[in-house]
Amino acid sequence: MELLTFLESNESSTDISDKMSLIVRKALENDIPEILEINNYEILNSTVNYDYEPKSLEFQLDWFHQKSSAGLPIIVAEKDGKVIGFATFGPFRPKPSYQFTIEHSVYIHPDFRGAGVGKRLMEKLISIAKNKGFHLMVGGIDANNLNSLEFHKKLGFQEVGKFLEVGRKFDQWLDLIFVQLPLG
Ligand SMILES: CC(C)(COP(=O)(O)OP(=O)(O)OC[C@H]1O[C@@H](n2cnc3c(N)ncnc32)[C@H](O)[C@@H]1OP(=O)(O)O)[C@@H](O)C(=O)NCCC(=O)NCCS
Repeated sequence: MELLTFLESNESSTDISDKMSLIVRKALENDIPEILEINNYEILNSTVNYDYEPKSLEFQLDWFHQKSSAGLPIIVAEKDGKVIGFATFGPFRPKPSYQFTIEHSVYIHPDFRGAGVGKRLMEKLISIAKNKGFHLMVGGIDANNLNSLEFHKKLGFQEVGKFLEVGRKFDQWLDLIFVQLPLG
């Protein structure tokens, strides 16, 4: 099985939460400006994302096309026609022995946090990963990001390692915690 060319059409199906009319679905090219806005907010305002400079629309479109052509999932949460969060995964590291391991990311618009949106996205992403036969999902979380550490713990992720002063942003050293979730 070619593990990294896997997103099948049945995984773009729509899934609706009665609670808040939330749709979780495969991302479309039209969603990229809203994904970009969510991404750039974190780049500019937090140490959640270790980039320094905001991304361009061209960059984010290229990211979308490259991931899509590699069969890597990008899913979005939509509420009232607006994209309020996204999640994705890709290879953890390039060497072949890592082929059963993926690294994910999940971002929710700051106005929509704490309402179960991240959880819905991650449940879908984990289900896609399991269906495709991946063995382990890994996440790298800035040690200051207590929200994300708690969020991942609630989803069953376990902390497995911490790099000390591995990053630097906003004139401070950053520690990075790795978490992992067995997929089957
Ligand atoms: C981390 C993040 C994805 C969580 O998404 P969210 O939609 O706010 O989280 P949810 O409402 O789905 O919460 C799911 C669970 O995590 C827990 N949780 C979420 N945020 C929390 C917080 N700030 N403090 C404590 N627990 C929290 C909730 O209690 C909830 O538990 P429950 O299912 O028992 O009720 C979101 O805060 C975010 O996008 N943050 C900025 C980007 C980021 O940090 N991404 C991750 C990079 S590693």
